[in-house]
Amino acid sequence: MIESKGWNWKIVSDDKDSIWKNPAIESYYLLSRWTSQGMKDFLDLGCGLGRHTILFGKNGFNVKAFDISEVAVEKTKSWAEEEGLTIETKTGDMLELPYEDSSVDCIYCRNVISHTDTEGMKKVVEELRRVLRKGGECYLTLGSKDTWGFKQESWPLVDSNTRLRMEEGPEYKTPHFYVDYKLAKELFKEFEIVNIYQVVNYHEKEDKVLDSYHYHLLIKKV
Ligand SMILES: C[S@@+](CC[C@H](N)C(=O)[O-])C[C@H]1O[C@@H](n2cnc3c(N)ncnc32)[C@H](O)[C@@H]1O
Repeated sequence: MIESKGWNWKIVSDDKDSIWKNPAIESYYLLSRWTSQGMKDFLDLGCGLGRHTILFGKNGFNVKAFDISEVAVEKTKSWAEEEGLTIETKTGDMLELPYEDSSVDCIYCRNVISHTDTEGMKKVVEELRRVLRKGGECYLTLGSKDTWGFKQESWPLVDSNTRLRMEEGPEYKTPHFYVDYKLAKELFKEFEIVNIYQVVNYHEKEDKVLDSYHYHLLIKKV
């Protein structure tokens, strides 16, 4: 299994207008859904700068914020303090979550669990299942094999689904695992798949338009 490597958050802006400080679109849907389902214990897996920790914390959830990057966890912790929120923060590796079996109601891991290889992904899926309560839900994203990054043949292939990302920036040399629809379904076959869809984001870089495809899955522990 490839060694885990988090983001280098030291080189990312934490200005209030940064995308990493503003909740992602679907997070408001999840907030509404999980509130109406009476969920309380929320795990922000791969919390980054804490944009979803703060959103769920402000809305009455008991938040556990977790990331492999100490910088990310520290920044999340100080933002929560500024907001007067009490949250639990931990630094560690998603391959071995430091939480009891069946201890959380809902998990949000946006653009996080793909940071491993095929073997690591199987371990993460087991960990999600272990820590979720029965009936609990997880929203996650997985890089799609249709995305430009998977097609970069000069980037080292770790296994048939995984490449090291060689673009300069916070993700330099982090592993990226990619799926197609069949593999995404296969990975989560022990769960009920409530919803699965693919989203494309377009980024303009110099004179190129990069198309970044992700599968989004909402899964339930049965
Ligand atoms: C693209 S960022 C997303 C951050 C956050 N989920 C958000 O939407 O703002 C990916 C995050 O996953 C973390 N990460 C990568 N590998 C990890 C691992 N093995 N265990 C825990 N966190 C990891 C990175 O450090 C980074 O903070």
